[in-house]
This record gives sequence, C-alpha cells and structure tokens, in this order.
Amino acid sequence: MEQEVSDFVLFLGRFHPLILHLPIGFLVMATILEGVSRLKRFDEYNKAVELVLLLGSLSAVAAALLGYMLAQAGGYGEQLLIIHQWSGVGVAVASAGAYLLKRYNRNRSSALMDRAYLSLLTIMVIALGIAGHYGGSLTHGSDYLTQYMPNGLRTVAGLPPKEEKGFKKITNLEEAAVYNDIIDPIFETRCTSCHNQNKKKGELQMHTRQLLMKGGEGGPIIVEGEADKSEMIKRINLPEAHDDHMPPEGKRPLTSEYKKLLEWWVNSGAPFEKRVSELKRSKEIQSALNTLVDPQANMSPAEKLLASDIDPVESKVQTELQKHGVDLRPVSDRGHWLQADIKKEHSVDSLLVMLKKVSPQLTWLDLGETTTTDKALQPIREFPNLTRLHLQNTRITDKGLSELAGLANLEYLNLYGTAVTDAGIQQLEKLDNLTKLFVWRTQVTQEGAQDLQETLPNLKVYLGAEKKSVALENDSK
Ligand code: HEC
Repeated sequence: MEQEVSDFVLFLGRFHPLILHLPIGFLVMATILEGVSRLKRFDEYNKAVELVLLLGSLSAVAAALLGYMLAQAGGYGEQLLIIHQWSGVGVAVASAGAYLLKRYNRNRSSALMDRAYLSLLTIMVIALGIAGHYGGSLTHGSDYLTQYMPNGLRTVAGLPPKEEKGFKKITNLEEAAVYNDIIDPIFETRCTSCHNQNKKKGELQMHTRQLLMKGGEGGPIIVEGEADKSEMIKRINLPEAHDDHMPPEGKRPLTSEYKKLLEWWVNSGAPFEKRVSELKRSKEIQSALNTLVDPQANMSPAEKLLASDIDPVESKVQTELQKHGVDLRPVSDRGHWLQADIKKEHSVDSLLVMLKKVSPQLTWLDLGETTTTDKALQPIREFPNLTRLHLQNTRITDKGLSELAGLANLEYLNLYGTAVTDAGIQQLEKLDNLTKLFVWRTQVTQEGAQDLQETLPNLKVYLGAEKKSVALENDSK
C-alpha cells in the first residue's frame, strides 16, 4: 500500500482545508436562494441560483481533488476517511447535476424535472452535512463536538457520561498497576491526541496495547528491556526543539518524572500486567513514583511554601515601603510571595519594624551590604516565612544569629564577611531546613562547620576558597 507520493501532490493537498469553505458557502447560498425565490416577493433571486450553483459545483470538484491529494499523506483513520471521501464526491456530483438540471429547466417548466432538481439539491445538502461532519472528526477527533458537552445533554444524546481522562489518584503505590495506572495515563494525557484510531501520526497508534507494541512507520517503537534502543524513549529524550521530539514542540511536554517512568517501564520489559511492587526500582524511580501519590513529594519545605498561596499585599503598603528604600517584588509570576531588597545607602535601624506589615508574604530578604546591626535584626523572628536571608557584609555578630533560631523555613543564609564565629553558627542547629550556609571571610572554622553539619545532615556549609570547603569534602565521601 505504501507508495511514493510526490511532494508536489502533498503540497497541493494542504490547500484542501482552505478551499473546502468555498463549496460550503456557495452551495448553502444556492439552496437558500432557491428556497427564498419560490416566494413571489423574492422571485427575482431565482436568476442568481444558476451561477451560484455553478461556482459551488466547480469549487466542490476542486476541493474533492485536493482532498484526495491530502489523503495520500496518510495519518487518517481508514473508516472516517472513506465516509468523508465518498460524501465529498457525492457533493461534487450532486451539485454538478443540480446545476445542469437548473439550466435545463431555465426555459421549460416541467413539474417532473423540477422535482428531480429539488431531490438532487436535497441529496447535495445531506452529503454536504455528512462530509463536513466527518471532515471535522478527521481533523479534530470524533469526540470534538461532544467533548465539552454537559453530562445532562450527553444522556439525552445517548452518550456515556464524561470520563476523566488520564490520572486517577494513586493511594496505594505498591499495589498500583504499572501499565494501567501509570504508563497508560501518561500516553492518554500527552500522546494519544495524535496517535489514536482517527489520527495516526507517523502511522503510530498508542490507544491499545497491541497497536502500541506494533509501532509506526519505522516499525516497533518499544524494544522490551532496552530503553536506549526504543524509538519512543529516544524521541522523548531529544532536545525539545528537535524535529523528532515527542510530543512535538508547542505541545505540553513530558515532565522529567514521566520520562523516567516511561524509561523504567521499557527497561523492565514493558509489562502490561505487573504491579509496582513486582518491579525493581532505583531511588530515582521511587522518588518519581512518589510524586504520583503526592505531587509535592519531592519539594523542599520552601518549595512547598511557595507552591501554596497567600493573600496579596495592598499596593498602598508597597508604595510606602518603596519610599523608604525597600524594593519589593514578587518572587515568581504565580502567587503573591515577595522578595525585598534594601538599598545600601538607606538606614536600616527601624526598617524591619516597618517591614512587619508584609511579614506573612515576605520570603526572600536581602539586607546584604547594609549597616544592619544585631539590634536592628531583632524583629526578624516575626518573619516566619523567610526562606532566604542575605546578611553578607553587615555588622551582625553571634548575638544577632540567636535571633534567627526560630526561622523554621529558612533554606539559604548568607553570612559572608561578617564577624560570626563557630559558637554563633551553633545557634542555627534547630534550622532543619537550612541547606546552604555561606560563611566565607568569617571566623567560622572547618571544625565548627563540620560540627553543625553533623546536626544538620542536609546542610552544605560554604567556607570559601581560603579554607578547604567542608561541602566539597562531604561530596567526595
Ligand atoms: C501534536 C501531535 C503529536 C503528539 C501529541 C505526539 N505525537 Fe508522536 N508523532 C507526531 C507526528 C506528526 C509524527 C510523525 C512525524 C515524525 O515521525 O516525527 C509522530 C511520530 C511519532 C513516533 C515515530 C513513529 C514512527 O514509527 O515513525 C513516535 C515513536 C512517537 N510519535 C511517539 C510519541 C509519544 C511517546 C508521544 C507522547 C509523549 C507523542 N508521540 C505525542 C505527532 C504527535
């Protein structure tokens, strides 16, 4: 069945969707004119019918020819295509016939011929409806019209109630069916819109197990047990801008977790009947699997905080703070979390007292390079949502650090170039979420850093270039 089709034919075929609107317009218009002109008041419109029918049938023939060329490109469901094709041909033939009869009837008035003409016109309109409907199904999928139909109407129309496509929430991960609960939903949400019974892009259909394993134009897309050799895995791992990347550029891409899970499934032999507990899982796969149960499973506490929502700050407050040298900006384009930078030349003595107005929203605070002292830092304990704090090159000492002990969400702390010592940073030992601490150019020693890291295993202490970094030593272990 495969035969070479010239590029020029395919090029012309692409004009089908453009041209097809002409016969629809002309032929519907001809029918309306014909109907209306049968009323005495509008009988002069009758003269126009012949011309409009001629234009309609010529453009219908053109649309049918171009449609035939488009079909050579393949990728359309067989059955829908046949119905569409033949109803399209029906439109062309019926409209040409109607035109000829209209011409023939011009000067004669035979009731029989008029009835034949009207019958042909009716057939033409019906064929037009069928061709249009199936054409729409070919391009948009057969559920295009009904996809968003409310459930009430669906019942009336005899359709089953809407099913939630894609992921059902997984509660018991060990018992979950690897294919049905994890792999197939990924295909359903990201692939089958183009690889199904109606649209077979690349001759590939992914909506049933058999067709998935059969593969596409280039043969099987899955080599059981060998993800590296599987066309499907190769394609999802290509750079997004690459022509062969799947899903194609502009479509919602696969998350890195989904990619890993598909790879895992193929490497496990692409089984259809196994449960999660029956397959080997690396740590990385386990953490990808965990996100199916809880989307926030792999987020740090700070990321979870930022993923939650908070009320916005009044713009009045924002402008007022701006006047005092506080640059307030949203942390991201979603949510209302704020970061504050303080202009260096401004006095910071009572600044934190003023900032209390935005303390629930404030999550990043940059006091770096300012004259902040231990005393000015005191109100910091009333900023529970701080995740990042810059205090580099300020005047704070160990005493100031004791104020930070309650900042449970703090993840990043920069103390570069301050007078803090080993004793000072020990006061941070309750900050379970601290992962980055910068103490270059301070009195902190390697031993002091090591001590703190023993209490806080997720912490990296950055001592800088002069002293051997504890962080590096930890990594090489
Ligand atoms: C927007 C439509 C679209 C979506 C969505 C899409 N694809 Fe495709 N796919 C295509 C087109 C078009 C081709 C044929 C052109 C080509 O080979 O790149 C194709 C071809 C393929 C092929 C090669 C088939 C062969 O044998 O030549 C594979 C494998 C594939 N897709 C996998 C996927 C996977 C996996 C997903 C979901 C993650 C996906 N596709 C989602 C449009 C799509």
